Amino acid sequence: MKLGIFDSGLGGLLVAKSIHKTMPDVEILYFGDTMNLPYGNKSSETIYELSKRSIEFLFEQDCALIITACNTISASSLRRLQQEYLPNSKYADRRILGVVVPTLEYAIDQDCSRLGVIGTNYTIKSNIYKSELQKLNPDMQIFQVNTPLLVPLIENEGMKWLPSVLEDYLAPLIKEDIECLILGCTHYPFLRNIIQDITKGKVNVIGQDKIIPSKLMDYFKRHPEIENKITKSRSIDFLVSDITDGYRSAAQKIYEQDIIIEHVSFNKNTYKRAS
Ligand code: DGL
Repeated sequence: MKLGIFDSGLGGLLVAKSIHKTMPDVEILYFGDTMNLPYGNKSSETIYELSKRSIEFLFEQDCALIITACNTISASSLRRLQQEYLPNSKYADRRILGVVVPTLEYAIDQDCSRLGVIGTNYTIKSNIYKSELQKLNPDMQIFQVNTPLLVPLIENEGMKWLPSVLEDYLAPLIKEDIECLILGCTHYPFLRNIIQDITKGKVNVIGQDKIIPSKLMDYFKRHPEIENKITKSRSIDFLVSDITDGYRSAAQKIYEQDIIIEHVSFNKNTYKRAS
């Protein structure tokens, strides 16, 4: 069986790449729902329905465990998928994990008392980081900024506008003297260097591409019954629900390697894999 990595698009390739590098013997299947990207501006019901369809597809493709690398999905649908969908499905013995709680656990270990978070419209408005932090460490202060222009700029070759947009977005967080900043979106690790420049290296910038592999290793230690189901193989496959030349070249750029992405066409809840 495989480890599934699911994202609304291609940003999750950064997490897939670092997991594959850290655990090269874990067989991975990546799925990006490029046809429905971005999820960050959609309603919770739509995000849930789209996520459920993709999760079901990955289980159908023999994934024992799925990581939803997408913060928007983790914020909107993870609990519902885990508690409502999974136990009532034919995949009740499989598992789905998100990225919000592991990221907060990591931030807490960094020993910072003033934490900033940036993310999509949905993620920030859902207050997921704030409410989960309240449960884990109510003494820590959290400051959030909604940064909806970042994904469109990253996806549409808008790099030249990013420094000025980021300066504007980060100003209120810098004013609050944050010590750590969570990049609460799959795409934001691309912005690490610009953010470090703007914050003059004074803020600990936390990206999920660096955190999730070690959190996954911890999970496997605690759940050998899941780890044992996953095939030891160096294979990693990449699937998307829509394919264009732009997606192909973005995937190479993000993954920094020549990778082959396959197209899956969904039609009335059935799907067909085609190169
Ligand atoms: N993957 C999404 C996230 O991490 C960003 C892109 C989108 O809005 O779908 O929140």
